[in-house]
Amino acid sequence: MKTLIKKKITISDKDNLILLCDKKSKLSDFNLSKQELEYIKKEQKDNKEIIAINQYSRHIFIILPKKEKDPNKHAENCRLIGDILAGKLKDMKSSLIIDVKENQTEAMQIAEGMALSNYTFIKHKAEGNANKLETIYMCKNSNKKNLTELQNIVDAVYLTRDLINEPFSHLTAKDLATAAIKSGKKYGIKTTVFNKKKIESLKMGGLLAVNKGSIDEPTFTIMEWNPSKAKNKNPIVLVGKGIVYDTGGLSLKPTANSMDLMKIDMGGAGTVIGAMQAIASNNLPYHVIGLAPATDNRPSGNAYAPGDVITMHDGTTVEVLNTDAEGRLILADALSFAKKYNPELVIDLATLTGAAVAAIGHYGFVSMHDGAIKDHAKLKEIGDKVHERLAEFPFWSDYDELIKSDIADIKNLGGPYGGAITAGKFLAHFADYPFIHIDLPGVYSKSKYGYRGKGATGMGVRLLYQFIKNKV
Ligand code: BES
Ligand code: MN
Ligand code: ZN
Repeated sequence: MKTLIKKKITISDKDNLILLCDKKSKLSDFNLSKQELEYIKKEQKDNKEIIAINQYSRHIFIILPKKEKDPNKHAENCRLIGDILAGKLKDMKSSLIIDVKENQTEAMQIAEGMALSNYTFIKHKAEGNANKLETIYMCKNSNKKNLTELQNIVDAVYLTRDLINEPFSHLTAKDLATAAIKSGKKYGIKTTVFNKKKIESLKMGGLLAVNKGSIDEPTFTIMEWNPSKAKNKNPIVLVGKGIVYDTGGLSLKPTANSMDLMKIDMGGAGTVIGAMQAIASNNLPYHVIGLAPATDNRPSGNAYAPGDVITMHDGTTVEVLNTDAEGRLILADALSFAKKYNPELVIDLATLTGAAVAAIGHYGFVSMHDGAIKDHAKLKEIGDKVHERLAEFPFWSDYDELIKSDIADIKNLGGPYGGAITAGKFLAHFADYPFIHIDLPGVYSKSKYGYRGKGATGMGVRLLYQFIKNKV
């Protein structure tokens, strides 16, 4: 269910109130009893950030965010307060945030945390315990444009989470493409889907090889947002890995439970689709193209095999030494396809390696870049702001030889160490433009982290949106 963020001018005595305050704020307007006011004072002395007053017909929360010197930490703390509030209000229909201390930035961050926290994925349950919180109202001094923007961002994050949470049984490569078309239609993004025949005619040997073991056809989706007053001359291209399920193929994933989560292997594509929606729904004046190659990766009588040599879209030959290193194969074709746009920058997003997960856990992303120092620095800065952070890995030329093959141009496997980096190096082989590679350990989390929740986090959408919005 959608969480609505709306402006409300009047306050009734049945509204659940969230009062954003500082110690000087006057609370006399809110019909609090003497006892309640005394209690609030006492709690304030103990530096409580959230003070709860439960009245008969409503809840009141007095919020006093602690002062953090680092503005990014402060913003994140406000979002996390929003998460706690959403938890306390999940059985209520609505709540109203009143900005008593007159700090709209904080009020918006709390609303953002609340809205992102309110997400549930219960469509496959007969009696899902959906949160009842339908509407987060913002008080009269809130800026309507900012509310609409936040609503669009939250909707896009929800879309990405829905796509990633959806199991393979309900989301094939075709379904993923259909979801892109649906969003594209709604928000005016020109969306084109290549079918298997078209993919064959384009000689996308990587995507076709991975798809060989599948009973379903691959898709290659192009979403183009090209507003008439675009500020950039050459487009920014976002590429997302769309492996709707990864068994490893004939190099079958070995250990117990290692496949349980592999419905999330289209996390890159899901993030690109959500980011495109956020960009278009908020009418950002930038020419942006999203590419999503998609298939599942399965063993079968016809599956591609370790030792195979395949020819990619750009003519490069690849020795396949492990069919579980499939993401880089489908992405490589999309990256060489992207050359035709003469892009100013290409960012790919992919649940590419277990090595990235092992290195940083589910707390953020791992990034590398080639010829994109400034853009990467900016992306990192934005990541810190939205708390979808990048851990930069080295991309030294020392690693280049690790993907050299004896019998083909390159191989799809690196050495025993630095797996996230050699995967990135494989991709960089197909890029001849400023290039940023993002490995996505953070798109999914088994345990809840604040407003990101449990399961698909939607992480990456806010990062890409704010990066493009602030592009110079
Ligand atoms: N989709 C996986 C990577 C992955 C694993 C993402 C676990 C998230 C959680 C990818 O296709 C893969 O299997 N990578 C292999 C590459 C290896 C065979 C070189 C890996 O990381 O083990
Ligand atoms: Mn794999
Ligand atoms: Zn994979």
